[in-house]
Amino acid sequence: MTATADKHTAEKHTAEKHTPDKHTAKQQTAQPALSALQIKSVGQGIMRVDGPQKVTGTAPYAYEQPVKNPAYLFPLVSGIGLGHIKRIEDKAAREVEGVLEILTHRNAYKLQPSRSAELQLLQSPEVHYKGEIIGAVIAETPYAARYAASLVNILYNEAEQDTRFVFTHPELYTPKKINAGGPADRHMGDSKAALKTAAHVTDAKFSHTMQFHSAMEPHSAMAEWHPEKGVTLYDASQGAGTWKAMLAPLLGLEPEQLHIVSPFVGGGFGSKGVPHAPTVLALLAAQLVAPRPVKLMLTRQQHFANVGYRPEIHQHFQLGADAQGKLTAIVQNVTETTSKLLEFAEQTVSPTRMMYAAPGRETTTRLVPLDLPPATFMRAPGEFPGMFALEIAMDEMAEACGLDPIEFRLLNEPERDPENGKPFSVRLLRECLEQGAKQFGWNGRKAPGQHQEGEWLYGMGVASATYPHHKPQATCGVVYGKGQYQVQLAAADLGTGAWTILGQIAADALEVPLEQIDLQIGDSDLPAAGLAGGSMGTYSWSNAIYHAARAFRKEHGEHPKAGAQAEGKAINTEEAEAHSKHTFGAHFAEVKVSSVTGEVRATRMLGIYDAGRIINPRTARSQFLGGMTMGISAALHEEAYLDTRFGHVVNHDFAGYHIAAHADVPELSVEWLDVPDPQFGPLGAKGIGEVGIVGVPAAISNAIYNATGKRLRDLPFTPAKLLEH
Ligand code: MOS
Repeated sequence: MTATADKHTAEKHTAEKHTPDKHTAKQQTAQPALSALQIKSVGQGIMRVDGPQKVTGTAPYAYEQPVKNPAYLFPLVSGIGLGHIKRIEDKAAREVEGVLEILTHRNAYKLQPSRSAELQLLQSPEVHYKGEIIGAVIAETPYAARYAASLVNILYNEAEQDTRFVFTHPELYTPKKINAGGPADRHMGDSKAALKTAAHVTDAKFSHTMQFHSAMEPHSAMAEWHPEKGVTLYDASQGAGTWKAMLAPLLGLEPEQLHIVSPFVGGGFGSKGVPHAPTVLALLAAQLVAPRPVKLMLTRQQHFANVGYRPEIHQHFQLGADAQGKLTAIVQNVTETTSKLLEFAEQTVSPTRMMYAAPGRETTTRLVPLDLPPATFMRAPGEFPGMFALEIAMDEMAEACGLDPIEFRLLNEPERDPENGKPFSVRLLRECLEQGAKQFGWNGRKAPGQHQEGEWLYGMGVASATYPHHKPQATCGVVYGKGQYQVQLAAADLGTGAWTILGQIAADALEVPLEQIDLQIGDSDLPAAGLAGGSMGTYSWSNAIYHAARAFRKEHGEHPKAGAQAEGKAINTEEAEAHSKHTFGAHFAEVKVSSVTGEVRATRMLGIYDAGRIINPRTARSQFLGGMTMGISAALHEEAYLDTRFGHVVNHDFAGYHIAAHADVPELSVEWLDVPDPQFGPLGAKGIGEVGIVGVPAAISNAIYNATGKRLRDLPFTPAKLLEH
């Protein structure tokens, strides 16, 4: 992170393990299973084992895998927003030197039915949205493919598309369920009556535009389709096993006929969670020119229509509180866009359902179906948009009650999960808020508009963060030979540190030094393991590794023979099921706002987390920093301009869609309470991938309010919004 000369950014941090304030942490009676062993590697800030490969450019990402004599493809994308292809004029393209084939719905391999309509690529002449992949040019070089693609002329029968979000849309509907499985609507108690009788009521609307993942590694794929040997796919995947389970049936292949290789991934943030159209395109192209391998790398512009995004979301929050500041009503009504091609119902209401209690509660979800590309999971799906609005609403209510925002949150800490009545496994939100306040200097916070230095108004804000526990299945194999333990599972490292921390876990679970672990991940031929997504990778993988390691020791003892092996599966206990399980955190932000231009700069931030056992403080800190940086990015910069006349995002590159750069990010401090959660598997490690982003935009909005007295509720918080107030 860059430090500026500003005195407000003077706080320093280290990559060392932080010392939690032990006095504030609840004493846990139960301990996770790993605590019974000697913990030597886990907890160490070991450097990334794949660091040297990455900085020397020798780590093979999907596009760089060594294959013989590859052909290259360049996608053809639809120039209209809805309709069907009438004619394809490709004579000029075919005459370009080096062009091998032109792939369209006319000659594409027949796919099997799938649950995801997004994967039914080139199976008909229909066009569902602007920029949809409708074919490809395959050529000897990427340049020939791209040039030839520019010469293909496509004629359409165009229908009238509909891409404009309106609350009164005639096709607005209630989804059967929302992502992660909850119901669209939930009513508890009588929220309307509670609002009527409340001493304090707040009522506010929130929104954000489409947001794009924007991983540094573009989506790329290389496919090799061999009639006898089957298909090999090199791709950037958040889970090779999950992808195989989706893609093999789509291609009409037996599982053993499809091999997905994905050892290194340059960021995913959800866009590489499930396969999208470009991957299918590479597979179809490889089938057409089999057995020659085909390589694809999307241009940055093509990402904006073909690998998912977070949909536009609108929220209406109404809160009621009694005279003492206890919440009596929480109402959240969410309206989101979805693609007509594939429903995506972001679980924006999820965090509201577990975060704070009130006798009257209502959460609803409505979808507006539009002729837009399919949306997908992105950077804390559900919790990011939900908490962005809820935590601003909480700040507004704290003010209405005349309470400090931290005091107000502490007053409203629920005894149990208000949705299902289960006790929380470990919920140290109170400790995060209290310890964070001390460290951040919260008591130096002034009343709105009271801290000015020259043109700059300064303010501080706080927000809570949370992310739920998901528990996919996972299997791990351990094989011994030549003094090394091969630890095998189809986990994925997106740049987060899985290559490093899974070795640390295996070493302690097998009770050997780290040097004796030969970790194997990122390959669909390995035992199936869940996605690196939903902040669940480390939980499910460590769970499987632990049980495989203990099974190995039980079966083969301390001195195993060469070839000795064992397997273990992730176990989710009944006791764990009886708890409500979440990661928690508190985000503190200080901003300065120019009274002249309306420019907002984050000057200082602290994220403090209740994340269970931290397996590697170096890589964990880095993940939290990444989340907080994405939070700044969403709060202040990321904004998509959808041209509803044509259905495409106008600013579809990094010149127009600004992602926080170094100059946008101040000194960030990261702290955690190192309290293992016994309900989070044998390691007691909660998910940390996504909680780092969740409260940041609300903390920044609340800080802007504290600086200026202006309440911003629509992301991103740009100068125009401050000036028009
Ligand atoms: Mo994350 S958006 O679940 O990859």
